[in-house]
Amino acid sequence: MTTTEKNISALIRPCIAALKPYSSARDEFAGAASVFLDANENSLGSPLDQDFSRYPDPLQTPLREALAALKQVDTRHIFIGNGSDEAIDMLMRVFVEPSRDNVVLMPPTYGMYAVQANIHGAEIRRAPLRADFSPHAEAVLSVADAHSKLLFLCSPNNPTGQCLPDDFVLEMLEKFPGLVVVDEAYGDFSGRASWTTRISEFPNLVVLQTLSKAWGLAGLRVGMAFSNALIINALNKIKYPYNLNQSTIQLALQALQHPERVQGKIQTLLAERRRLEQALPLLPCVQKVFPSDANFLLVRVTDANDIYRYLCEQGIIVRNRDRELHCSNCLRITVGTPAENDTLLSALRSYYPPYDVR
Ligand SMILES: Cc1ncc(COP(=O)(O)O)c(C=O)c1O
Repeated sequence: MTTTEKNISALIRPCIAALKPYSSARDEFAGAASVFLDANENSLGSPLDQDFSRYPDPLQTPLREALAALKQVDTRHIFIGNGSDEAIDMLMRVFVEPSRDNVVLMPPTYGMYAVQANIHGAEIRRAPLRADFSPHAEAVLSVADAHSKLLFLCSPNNPTGQCLPDDFVLEMLEKFPGLVVVDEAYGDFSGRASWTTRISEFPNLVVLQTLSKAWGLAGLRVGMAFSNALIINALNKIKYPYNLNQSTIQLALQALQHPERVQGKIQTLLAERRRLEQALPLLPCVQKVFPSDANFLLVRVTDANDIYRYLCEQGIIVRNRDRELHCSNCLRITVGTPAENDTLLSALRSYYPPYDVR
């Protein structure tokens, strides 16, 4: 083991390092055979046209190989989860010792990091973004200590929409005492190189991605964590044996054969985002449209609560982020289809305040 591997191993909770993982029937025999009587499945099949009577491959090998080819990453450096939310959960389980360790968050950011930290009994230390949503390196390093296991960097950030600067992420990779988790859920919209290309350089780097956003597969639940083999093995060691179902594995494999379709959708969504970026500021109820590297816009309006209720009444649901730090009177609006965006714009054009007292 190299010194850096030793350092990363030392971050793993002792009970996880010592854990003897569950060994499923499919772990113990994965080769070719004609009679499988090892897993107590129903040998007569399923009550469906397609047969789902067999447990799926625990390590999703063909799917991992397809992702490895697409992302240009070694298969040993990929964990596949039931959405990237599962990867966040697994990272907490592997690294956070309840009531002892802490995680560092940079609000406003994706709410699941705090929820998972609370579930796992981690102390949350906050190093807020500045009011212009730029990151504050000294703030992060000043709240971090030897028990800081995970730093979540969401880039592009939800709900603000912007990528974190590369030099900030680099500084965190060099100075943060625990793992640096770069969540690239919206990375396919940003046009930036992924941090997956730097995994071999930084043993403390974990990159999260998902098929829920640009790939349009939120309903299938497929997310990925990319990191060195030591961290990926630890995540695989503790996950539920069959965390991805067979139908998801099959459909995700089919989808991965069509990256060109995804590129087409990304281009359409980016063109629509530009159209909204130009049209929204012309409306009297819009004060500011924040720059975005993602498939949504954070928009400061005259009265977020009133406009949110008005839009709901029109059957248009956006996300009210008014209560988030630095986001007073802000709505987070997903870029929709051209028709949906037209509906949104025309509803906002017809808004006269205050809606609520009418
Ligand atoms: C920043 C960020 N990370 C992760 C996720 C979770 O994605 P998944 O559908 O892969 O669980 C989301 C979902 O909205 C997100 O906004």
